[in-house]
Amino acid sequence: MPTISIPAWDSSLEVGNAIIDADHKETVELLAEAAKASDAELPAHFKAFAQHLREHLAREEELMHQYGFPPTPIHVGEHNRVRLELEGIEKRMAMGNLALVRGYLTEVVPEWFVNHKNTMDSATASWIRSQGG
Ligand SMILES: [Fe+2]
Ligand SMILES: [Fe+2]
Repeated sequence: MPTISIPAWDSSLEVGNAIIDADHKETVELLAEAAKASDAELPAHFKAFAQHLREHLAREEELMHQYGFPPTPIHVGEHNRVRLELEGIEKRMAMGNLALVRGYLTEVVPEWFVNHKNTMDSATASWIRSQGG
């Protein structure tokens, strides 16, 4: 059983930016669906999640550039680490390692998501608000 639970979406998870919050709601929903998937269904769930996450990260980066978020390189650097991680999971999934995919979606990503949202994403949303966005 996963040791880290996937948070249910509610307003306490919002960072106060409509674009970021909409992506975060989708992240939480996709993780919850993937956690219920059978092994046969899991690859399709992972593919949908990976596509969503890449778009989610890119949208945040557009906002950072648009509003001149000063620590953009740090936030983008963390996103790039996650992009490499996704590629690694994709390679292992192609070799049939579904246990790794399941652990990634039910333990690694939920823990990362909450920490990342509470730090870099929250700071980005605060900066955007301070700039009138
Ligand atoms: Fe985010
Ligand atoms: Fe982020």
